[in-house]
Amino acid sequence: MTTSRQDQMTLVAFLQASNVSVYSGSWRYPSSATDYLDLRYYQRIARELEDGMFDLLFFDDRLAMPSIYGGSPAEAVRYGARPIKLDLSTVLGAVAAVTEHIGLGATYSTTYYPPFHVARTFATLDHLSGGRAAWNIVTSVNDAEAQNFGVDRHIGHDKRYDRAEEFVEVVAKLWDSWEDGAIVGDRESGVFADPDLVHEIDHRGEYFTVRGPLTVPRTPQGRPVIIQAGQSGRGRQFAAKWADLIFTSDPSRQIAQDHYRQQKELVQETGRDPESVRLLPMAYTIAGETEAIAREKEAVFLDQLVHPMASLTLLSEVTNHDFAGHSLDDEVTDELIDSVSGIRGLVQGVRKHVGDRKLTLRTLANHRATLLQGPRFVGTGPQIAEQMQEWFESRSCDGFVIAATHFPGAFEEFVRLVVPELRSRGLVRTEYTGGTLRENLSLDRPANQFAAEGHANP
Ligand SMILES: Cc1cc2nc3c(=O)[nH]c(=O)nc-3n(C[C@H](O)[C@H](O)[C@H](O)COP(=O)(O)O)c2cc1C
Repeated sequence: MTTSRQDQMTLVAFLQASNVSVYSGSWRYPSSATDYLDLRYYQRIARELEDGMFDLLFFDDRLAMPSIYGGSPAEAVRYGARPIKLDLSTVLGAVAAVTEHIGLGATYSTTYYPPFHVARTFATLDHLSGGRAAWNIVTSVNDAEAQNFGVDRHIGHDKRYDRAEEFVEVVAKLWDSWEDGAIVGDRESGVFADPDLVHEIDHRGEYFTVRGPLTVPRTPQGRPVIIQAGQSGRGRQFAAKWADLIFTSDPSRQIAQDHYRQQKELVQETGRDPESVRLLPMAYTIAGETEAIAREKEAVFLDQLVHPMASLTLLSEVTNHDFAGHSLDDEVTDELIDSVSGIRGLVQGVRKHVGDRKLTLRTLANHRATLLQGPRFVGTGPQIAEQMQEWFESRSCDGFVIAATHFPGAFEEFVRLVVPELRSRGLVRTEYTGGTLRENLSLDRPANQFAAEGHANP
């Protein structure tokens, strides 16, 4: 059955437990807070987002410092290009304690954590937060992460996704290993829980062998909300099968519109309701009291704050290619494009902005490291709301993942200047209507596979 489309946008905040936002020059911006090693920093940002009634806040993650460039993390450390990434379960525990409604999402890798650990982490968070947990599934990107986990080379792209499929199956089984109502708590008879409703999953697959049951009972959401952001063909298939929320990074509305249609078709092909899956492009907003103020800030972020070496370090990171043999003023030739996997799409996007001028590595790296991966909405509250509305109403997206140029200012400005405007247009919520994140997103609580299959005590 296909349900009708939500008439309001889903709003997600894109956070980093780090010295920088996704914009790697953010630490140099004068009003960026510097207490990112203090839990109150995260609590403050989360409260602000809850005041703005964001549906969800989520943290990205990487399990290594950028260290592809020059085979060393030195430049990432020197220029503050994401050398810090805190453990997310601890951060979200602190955030859960001071919020009541907003969803709490974290990125966990299927390549470098075991499924039991991930299932347990999110089940715990879901209980302790009253049903607000969300897992962003990533397969991780490069060799630097592999080397922190005793492996020389990151495994191949499609194989990573094959492994991730089995990983998520195991996690889902573990989450279902306790049926609802298993805990009896009968003090009189001494029976705590019904063993017929708690299942060993006995999973033996190609990649994992897991006995179960999980040591955490079934959670308020049954299954924490699943996020996925795969952009490749294989990634999109994976997302179609598993994700409740799909994050994208399409640079223009036309590209996003095609992506939206294709991804919804893929969801339908898997037998799921396409309207139950939300496509959310990552977007930067730079809001100001006047357009001139916003444009002035944009110019600072685009041209002044990201050190060119930080940019190059990050370009090496995302492409898994060491650019240390190049100078920043080298031209980006066809030969270079052919030799670096994953760079072609990026180059095509940047070419649109530089026109016929010679494209240098400096320009390419700067675009990648600054603000050009998703749409950028700049202006007053009404101007930004207008652009977001156009994307939403043209079925280019179901909402947005709002990325911050700096913390906490970018979100304060968004909540103060843009949210009231979106509200007055009826495009975002004015109250949290549900108890759990799934309820707030109008997503069903999945049936328990053991109960559904009548699988008592396997
Ligand atoms: C909004 C957004 C957030 C992402 N967060 C992470 C992250 O935290 N960690 C990570 O390794 N990859 C992250 N990614 C990258 C994706 O998981 C994925 O690896 C990438 O889009 C490439 O897709 P592919 O593997 O299907 O080619 C993110 C992507 C987007 C669009």
